[in-house]
Amino acid sequence: MTAQHRLLTLSLLLLGCLATSRATLVVTGTTYTVKLVEGREGEPKYVLSRQYLDVLECSMYASDSSKLVDPKIDWKIEGSNDTLDSRFSFSGRLSEDKKNFTSTLSVRRPENKHVTNYTCTGSATDQPEAQGRARLQSKPLISFKIDGVTMSDVGAWPGQDIQMSCIVEGNPAGSPEWKREKDGATIGNGTANLVLEAVNYDEHRGFYTCSANNSQGTNAAKIFLRVKHPQAYLTPMIIIIVEVIIIAIIVVVYEYFMYKKHKQAEAEGEAYKTD
Ligand SMILES: *[C@@H]1O[C@H](CO)[C@@H](O)[C@H](O)[C@H]1NC(C)=O
Ligand SMILES: *[C@@H]1O[C@H](CO)[C@@H](O)[C@H](O)[C@H]1NC(C)=O
Ligand SMILES: *[C@@H]1O[C@H](CO)[C@@H](O)[C@H](O)[C@H]1NC(C)=O
Ligand SMILES: *[C@@H]1O[C@H](CO)[C@@H](O)[C@H](O)[C@H]1NC(C)=O
Ligand SMILES: *[C@@H]1O[C@H](CO)[C@@H](O)[C@H](O)[C@H]1NC(C)=O
Repeated sequence: MTAQHRLLTLSLLLLGCLATSRATLVVTGTTYTVKLVEGREGEPKYVLSRQYLDVLECSMYASDSSKLVDPKIDWKIEGSNDTLDSRFSFSGRLSEDKKNFTSTLSVRRPENKHVTNYTCTGSATDQPEAQGRARLQSKPLISFKIDGVTMSDVGAWPGQDIQMSCIVEGNPAGSPEWKREKDGATIGNGTANLVLEAVNYDEHRGFYTCSANNSQGTNAAKIFLRVKHPQAYLTPMIIIIVEVIIIAIIVVVYEYFMYKKHKQAEAEGEAYKTD
């Protein structure tokens, strides 16, 4: 082997060593359980307890504990390609020894849909990207939608068909179960939409409960179906009839007095002429 050969083999070995010892990034995220509080009367039964959440973190370090150069962590909602909107903010800090970088995610006015899984993609100069995940979890969060509008009280005329949807959010996901409060009967299981055909006052008016379970516990909320009484149109009709009668009386009385005044004036005119 010539000296040149030896040198070449050595450099190849060295390169090989460098390549195999190249560090990878390790990214890990935290899990936080959101506490729920009961809403005010008429609001969905459970709302997020905080107006501001800054509880999720992702940390990153190099597997060979080398220093991180220009470290960066990008957050996304898992399963979505969208960048996070302006209600989210991030702050990163690099440890003093520059070996550990931590990013904190903050959410202003979180909505139910934000209680979910997040992915964080870590990168640093000369390092391949790596992913980790952080989770916001809670009991099932329950709300109701009628024709796409969130409500907890719905009015209906007798004979009308009604579809109420139970929206279960929170993390992990849960599956809805519908119950009629009147007799506790289960009228839907594993299905968001409850369809009631030709509703009537006696049978369908009342509260309906939607509940769901997940690993964090169970939760339930109520919606009131306000089927109007079949005679509900009577009151407005009576009011209208009374109004019409009062107007008619006023008109008749007014006309009568105008007529009398006219007659009187005529009579006085006659009297003047004969004077
Ligand atoms: C995200 O983007 C990837 C690649 O561009 C695509 O395959 C995937 O369907 C997208 N996912 C969503 C939820 O839009
Ligand atoms: C990096 O820093 C975060 C926050 O200070 C800490 O929770 C995590 O354990 C650290 N990781 C390592 C590998 O030092
Ligand atoms: C979040 O991740 C956990 C664990 O992988 C999974 O059970 C859960 O369904 C995920 N949640 C959502 C909303 O995708
Ligand atoms: C509803 O379905 C779930 C899952 O299939 C089951 O565990 C539960 O017992 C059912 N509830 C009723 C009242 O049938
Ligand atoms: C939730 O769990 C309770 C008790 O384990 C059970 O009675 C109820 O049917 C479950 N509800 C759903 C929606 O699965």
